[in-house]
Amino acid sequence: MIMIICFSGTGNSMHAAKVVASIIDDEIVSMNELIRKKNREPIRTDRPLVFVSPVYAWDLPRIVQDFIMKTNFKGNKDAYFILTCDSEPGSSERYIKKLCVQKGFTYRGMASVCMPENLLTMFDIDDEQTCKKKIAAADKRVKGLAEAILDGCILSDDKPRNIFKSAVVNPLFYRFCVKPQKFRTTDKCTSCGKCTENCPLNNIKMVSGRPVWGKECTLCMSCIARCPVEAIEYGKKTEGRRRYHLEDRDL
Ligand SMILES: Cc1cc2nc3c(=O)[nH]c(=O)nc-3n(C[C@H](O)[C@H](O)[C@H](O)COP(=O)(O)O)c2cc1C
Repeated sequence: MIMIICFSGTGNSMHAAKVVASIIDDEIVSMNELIRKKNREPIRTDRPLVFVSPVYAWDLPRIVQDFIMKTNFKGNKDAYFILTCDSEPGSSERYIKKLCVQKGFTYRGMASVCMPENLLTMFDIDDEQTCKKKIAAADKRVKGLAEAILDGCILSDDKPRNIFKSAVVNPLFYRFCVKPQKFRTTDKCTSCGKCTENCPLNNIKMVSGRPVWGKECTLCMSCIARCPVEAIEYGKKTEGRRRYHLEDRDL
């Protein structure tokens, strides 16, 4: 038995967490909810922890690192990490190991799983067919990982990884590419407020019926990808670009 703790912007990681839960038959704690509510209650468990999260700029998202560092975990300190990404996690493992040392966790390994691209403020999104193929392959891989965890194995992400990206490009990404002030709404906006509800950082407020973004954004893509009428743009880059998010009911 394990405790699954998941952060997810557009649903890939939550889907992976549900696949793990379906094999191991255990609960999923939503990091999004805890961050939204600024809930800093200790997490108590006598079971190993399995963190499921996307990769952001070849590392664990800063918001996830921050959550782990600030939360008091009581009981079992064995920690597994399953990271969903579009192509590769860079040298995330190196930094996760360091985080575990700082936190007093026993590192039980990390594995990455390729899933559909969601970073539409920078890249084109995979077409529907490619998304389906990636999700089917991911499901198989995640089931295997869950079984390995159940058997008490150590996960390993054994491919040689690019250290440069995680060490050099990651800080540049946060410095130059995360610009919440670039989010805007078009005339399609119906003032439904879904973007404010979906933001895991509680960073969007409705002002005179329109969303306004604060400074706490981590570029998770939840607001722009889940807007029911595609009324959110990020500068001009996202105009005409396919939106992607995964709801289990779509599968
Ligand atoms: C801010 C940001 C940075 C990303 N950086 C990477 C990356 O370095 N490598 C990669 O393969 N995918 C990267 N991606 C893609 C996501 O990791 C991938 O689509 C993930 O499955 C999304 O998970 P989610 O739907 O649970 O949020 C990035 C996505 C975002 C939003």
